[in-house]
Amino acid sequence: MLEKMGLALLQRIDPERAHGVALMALKAGLGPLQGPVTTPRLRTTIAGLNMPNPVGLAAGFDKNATVFGPLMRSGFGFLEVGAATPRPQPGNPKPRLFRLTEDRAAINRFGFNNDGMEAIGTRLAATEHELPVGLNLGANKDSEDRSGDFAKVLKHCGAHVEFATVNVSSPNTERLRDLQGKEALTALLDGVMAAREKMPRPIPVFLKIAPDLTLEEIADIVEVAQITRVSAIIATNTTKSRDALHSSHRDEMGGLSGAPLFEMSTRVVAQISQMTDGKLPIIGVGGIGSAEQAYQKIRAGASAVQLYTALVYGGLSLAADIAYGRNVPGAAAAARRQRRATRTTPGLRQILPRQWRPSSGPRWPPAARRQNRRRRQPPPEPTEA
Ligand SMILES: Cc1cc2nc3c(=O)[nH]c(=O)nc-3n(C[C@H](O)[C@H](O)[C@H](O)COP(=O)(O)O)c2cc1C
Repeated sequence: MLEKMGLALLQRIDPERAHGVALMALKAGLGPLQGPVTTPRLRTTIAGLNMPNPVGLAAGFDKNATVFGPLMRSGFGFLEVGAATPRPQPGNPKPRLFRLTEDRAAINRFGFNNDGMEAIGTRLAATEHELPVGLNLGANKDSEDRSGDFAKVLKHCGAHVEFATVNVSSPNTERLRDLQGKEALTALLDGVMAAREKMPRPIPVFLKIAPDLTLEEIADIVEVAQITRVSAIIATNTTKSRDALHSSHRDEMGGLSGAPLFEMSTRVVAQISQMTDGKLPIIGVGGIGSAEQAYQKIRAGASAVQLYTALVYGGLSLAADIAYGRNVPGAAAAARRQRRATRTTPGLRQILPRQWRPSSGPRWPPAARRQNRRRRQPPPEPTEA
């Protein structure tokens, strides 16, 4: 109730300011502090990381690692802070965050505003981690060696986190997404993995990709990820596309997140899962606002999920609601679709309320699978399975 009232007030002020107020409230202990949300069924392990539940906080919410202490008790199963760059930088001029209320979405063009790896590393080291906490690695806008920046941040902060994410998919740093190309990505990940090998306790490295990629580009990225031994792919970051939006802010520059991103990013999850035969863990992110949608990501091939924009509209208690499968609109329809489910992974099953757990159905129809692989066509829509 208090949370709903707070949210209603926050919706009336400038979105970036509202986010700042929400962070201050969290620091003051005013957030929903549920404590650990877990049951034996919800426990999930990815790349050796033990998560009490598979619902994570996506990067960008706690950019400077100032509130991950209270966030650890807000119901999430894992957190990702950052992006951190080697040097502090102010990001793009304001306004740079827009609420698209009618579309349950947001557009941001922050451009990696952050306090830099030294300040962020110090904060990460100062607080005990009750859950896996990861750091989103970024590059300085004016860097002469952007690829090298990722390894630099990992070297500096890696000892204080449980995983790190190479983020080459933000649309708000000019030409950053070019680093997703095969050669550039190989060189970048070789550098990051070499830095990882030198760590006393090497941590898993994840790769976060954009939703605006062709199937060929995704195939190249997956190949590079497997060769360089990335531990998981986070799919996806925000999109540059602007289809079917209603809000007056729809033409703002930046990355679109929230409900309109759901289908697009879920398709990327399904494509990666199919290409890797489910062997490379995927963390599904993009437009999740309910347990049903988290489940759809899982059915598409994700082993865990993350969310951000839905928290702006639903509050932090959404994390626990999703993990427990509470207040789920459309649960009956989901259960019907579940009976026809064709694809899931054991990790993803654990997020499901008991009544949604897939029975042992076939995976993708084998003939379609072979055909898809040959033609590099997108797999069938996961929701149509
Ligand atoms: C305001 C804002 C800032 C973000 N900052 C980052 C970031 O620094 N690094 C990153 O990898 N993703 C960042 N993201 C992307 C989210 O982590 C997530 O991938 C994306 O928003 C899709 O999920 P959602 O629809 O649940 O928000 C940001 C998103 C938003 C809305």
